Order: sequence, then C-alpha cells, then structure tokens
Amino acid sequence: MTVEILKQNKKSWDIVAHHFNGVDALPSYGPYTQTEDELKLFGNVKNQRVLEIGCGSGHSLRYMAKKGGSELWGVDISEKQIETAKETLKDLNPHLYRAPMEEDIGLPKEYFDVVFSIYAIGWTTDLAETFALINSYLKPGGYFIFSWDHPLYPHLQSQNGKIYLDGTYQKEGHTTYEKFKGEDASVVIPKRKMSTYINELVKAGFTIDSVIESEVSASYDSSKEEVSDRYYSLYKARRFPTTMIIKVLKK
Ligand SMILES: C[S@@+](CC[C@H](N)C(=O)[O-])C[C@H]1O[C@@H](n2cnc3c(N)ncnc32)[C@H](O)[C@@H]1O
Repeated sequence: MTVEILKQNKKSWDIVAHHFNGVDALPSYGPYTQTEDELKLFGNVKNQRVLEIGCGSGHSLRYMAKKGGSELWGVDISEKQIETAKETLKDLNPHLYRAPMEEDIGLPKEYFDVVFSIYAIGWTTDLAETFALINSYLKPGGYFIFSWDHPLYPHLQSQNGKIYLDGTYQKEGHTTYEKFKGEDASVVIPKRKMSTYINELVKAGFTIDSVIESEVSASYDSSKEEVSDRYYSLYKARRFPTTMIIKVLKK
C-alpha cells in the first residue's frame, strides 16, 4: 500500500510540479500565514549546513543561501521538482536527491545544523520513520522546523461564510483526491491529528520549542475581507489558522 501511494504521488507531483515553481517557499510558511520575517524561528544560519525535506523547486533553499547557509541539501520525491531545484540553485553547488523522505538514502548523520520542511512533511506515509531520520541527520543542538496544513483545516467547509466541520477529525487515515491543481493527477494524502504530529516528534527524541497556529500575516492588514467559501481565503484564515508551524530541538 505504502509503496503504491508513493508511486502514485510521485507520478502526480511530476505532472503538477510546474504549478509550484516558487510556491510554498520561505519566507512564506503557508497561505495567508505569518512569514519567517515576522516569526524569526530560524536563528542565524550563517555558515550552517541546512537540509530541506520536500525541497520542491529549491526556492526555500535559495532563501537559506541568501541568509548565509553554507551547504544546501534537499530531498524530494519528484524528478521534475529536483530538475527545477537544480536550475534554481545552479550557482550554489547544492546537494539534491530524488527520494522519498521516509527512506534512508545514506544522508550524513549528526551533520546538519538545521533541517526544515515547508508544506511537505504531511505527505509522508511513515511519520515515525521520517521524524526518526530527521533526528538522526541533525547534530545535537540542531533544530527542525516545519509547516503544514493545520490538521483541522481540511475538515473546514464554508457555506455563505458559515464555517462548519466536514467529516471526522477523530478518524485518521488517507484522503484520495482524483484531481490535483485541476490536472489528471490523483494523490493520496495522509490525514493525522495535531496530537499525532506532536507525539511522534517527542517519540523521535525531539524537545518542543514552539507550536504556532499562525495568525494572518501583517501584510494583509489593509486587505479588505470579503465573505468567501474558497478553500483558502482571507475570510477563513482570519477565523481559523490555515497552517501549523512547529519548531523542535535535538538535545
Ligand atoms: C508544496 S511542495 C514544497 C515546496 C518547497 N518548500 C519549495 O520551496 O519549493 C511539496 C513537495 O513535497 C514533495 N513530496 C511529496 N511527497 C513526498 C515524499 N514522500 N518524500 C519527499 N518529497 C515528497 C513534492 O514532490 C513537492 O515538491
């Protein structure tokens, strides 16, 4: 099952990759979400070794290079995304690998100062193994930051501006979407509770530093709010966080 999901998701990410060039990249943590410039979760990354899980088009790694990161490493399941990331980072000598995040592909252990992931971690079919691997890549004292859909968010439906719970938050499992970005690209996305993310981080040996249910970014302060039932809208984001952001430390 897991192998089939990974195969299917890889195929679909190769189809939709062009929709995501430079999207979901730092300093953004997610739709309408406070940015790294506002939250300042990363410390000084000057001369640090950084690894991105689900590096996509490479734009977050490029942001890390601008902040002084010395070694840029990235892993992504999609060939197309890795091709784009190579292009985005071509002057920066990156180390890029096409592989699922849940697989041990021999990345160096206790090597990285920072591991991060922007809107990718929730794709993993094995959260426990993924967090254990990330913990193993980090030096003691290093940290891991990720953002992902707030786990309740996919359950929020909106009708004429009234937001209600659809389905059950209680039941974990998988959701299959037949189309992704309007393309014939079916994907299977694991469905987990907030507590599962936090408990698995603790089991993997991390100490929680911050759990952020993000406010709307200050850049929208002067934006007019209109009632909207779209999946992501300013109207919804002002009432419920689209994104969770978690920072953990390796002792
Ligand atoms: C929204 S994008 C991340 C964008 C990225 N933060 C950037 O700066 O471009 C999510 C990424 O997760 C990758 N992905 C999905 N499932 C994965 C898996 N099991 N292992 C590794 N990468 C995966 C996708 O190929 C996609 O590039």
